[in-house]
Amino acid sequence: MSEMNADSRTRLDRTPQWNALGKHREELGQTHLRELFEADPERGTKYTLAAGDLHIDYAKHLVTDETLALLHELAAATGVAALRDAMFRGEKINITEDRAVLHTALRAPENVVVKVDGEDVVPEVHAVLRKMAAFSDRVRSGEWTGHTGKRIRNVVNIGIGGSDLGPAMAYEALRAFSDRGLTVRFVSNVDGADLHEAVRDLDAAETLFIIASKTFTTIETITNATSARNWLLTQLGAGEEAVARHFVALSTNEEKVAGFGIDTANMFGFWDWVGGRYSFDSAIGLSLMIAIGPDRFRQLLDGFHLMDEHFRTAPPEENAPLLMGLLGIWYGNFHDAQSHAVLPYSHYLSRFTAYLQQLDMESNGKSVDRNGDPVDWQTGPVVWGTPGTNGQHAYYQLIHQGTKLIPADFIGFARPVDDLLPGLVAQHDLLMANFFAQTQALAFGKTPQEVRAEGVAEELVPHKTFRGNHPTTTILAPELTPSVLGQLIALYEHKVFVQGAVWNIDSFDQWGVELGKVLAKRLEPALVEGADVAGLDPSTRALVARYRELRGR
Ligand code: F6P
Repeated sequence: MSEMNADSRTRLDRTPQWNALGKHREELGQTHLRELFEADPERGTKYTLAAGDLHIDYAKHLVTDETLALLHELAAATGVAALRDAMFRGEKINITEDRAVLHTALRAPENVVVKVDGEDVVPEVHAVLRKMAAFSDRVRSGEWTGHTGKRIRNVVNIGIGGSDLGPAMAYEALRAFSDRGLTVRFVSNVDGADLHEAVRDLDAAETLFIIASKTFTTIETITNATSARNWLLTQLGAGEEAVARHFVALSTNEEKVAGFGIDTANMFGFWDWVGGRYSFDSAIGLSLMIAIGPDRFRQLLDGFHLMDEHFRTAPPEENAPLLMGLLGIWYGNFHDAQSHAVLPYSHYLSRFTAYLQQLDMESNGKSVDRNGDPVDWQTGPVVWGTPGTNGQHAYYQLIHQGTKLIPADFIGFARPVDDLLPGLVAQHDLLMANFFAQTQALAFGKTPQEVRAEGVAEELVPHKTFRGNHPTTTILAPELTPSVLGQLIALYEHKVFVQGAVWNIDSFDQWGVELGKVLAKRLEPALVEGADVAGLDPSTRALVARYRELRGR
């Protein structure tokens, strides 16, 4: 599978490929992007690639041909391509849960065969998609009515993590393609304020709740779903019989869905080979499908599939997710970068980075390798960012002149979405001028000589100097369409995959979230009056005592 055996893989940082990269990093030293561009006039066009509709420019990275060659050697030695092929084949590469990892099957065309345990899963995927489409059409046309016979005008998705972030992000991203007559909201937080604000101005008779939970055991979701059911029945003054017209479920757990009181005829299923954070193109996307319609949802899936095929078949040097994954390794492991900014220059992508946080940090926030041995190298970065240009007036100062190296992805679109008010279309050039200006400033900075030439007083020169040399990727697409959104998400899914493969970690489990869940369950009884707190650690005991005092308990 790879040139390294299982034992040596755990010692990634002692491999010749790793050592060669370390040596190369020392040789490059503080080489400035200004020098790299001067040395190669073609650099601005040479270091670009096309993946579907995405133009990806990596010229402003602290890399040379040699860096890229060495990174590709590392990918080859760590068996990235072999693990990728195993994933696409449906092998159980999620080793700690003994599961296949097949989000790619969710967007596969009907004629593709993907087997798990000898069974082709693609027909089931399309059967669920058809059921979702039929239901979405009924809601959108008004044929599906609530308990009192009124048509549905509000859709509230209740879910958390992967059962919330994907559809919530994509609904924002594709608002321009959505039915503007529908109100679509997302509730995730167990803080009652979330549900309160989502339903307080809604007519229950016109409201459909979509309960999204892969396991259907997640405490936040089940608590909010129960509260939503109570709210609905109180508002309607109806009995349990009203639930069937106002609640549907998206889950892998039929038994729990039935136990909650939702008719399993109104359940849209998926499978254990779909990870929560990779599930938004499964039934978990139902709220989005209702908002944008089945045809556009299919365009989104086709966009995902386009990027899957690119990742699966493009040669290494032209493979966008591979390149982006390797660049992240270059900075995280050889420049000690701790974080990675994703900065979309589209207001519609306001939730995109939050979505990527789960995708990347839940996948690659690991410190033992696939054999369970501790890793001696940095794994997943802190992912953060908000849409441009807002960040420019907030935290970009630190990226430009702070002491930290923060590689960043800039994502922009040539055209604004179609339904922008005509007077606002003109603002797009200004948005994009900022988009291009920022990566320019980050890369090339401003030298003391240039500052002095402007007549700046000598004592201010250091303050007004920009060192530059801050690496960025620019991703430019024609327009934010459903297909382009699918391509972008799949690009990042596979980038995360590449990094996990090189680091030899299981990117598909998330045991780290379990302890907090267990402790919260144990702590809840301690918050009530008179409860025994003796078993708690001294810090938590004191905090709980303070809380109870404030609550008069
Ligand atoms: O707690 C983490 C997690 O398991 C995520 O991976 C998942 O997306 C989220 O909880 C929600 O899980 P479920 O869809 O089962 O409610």
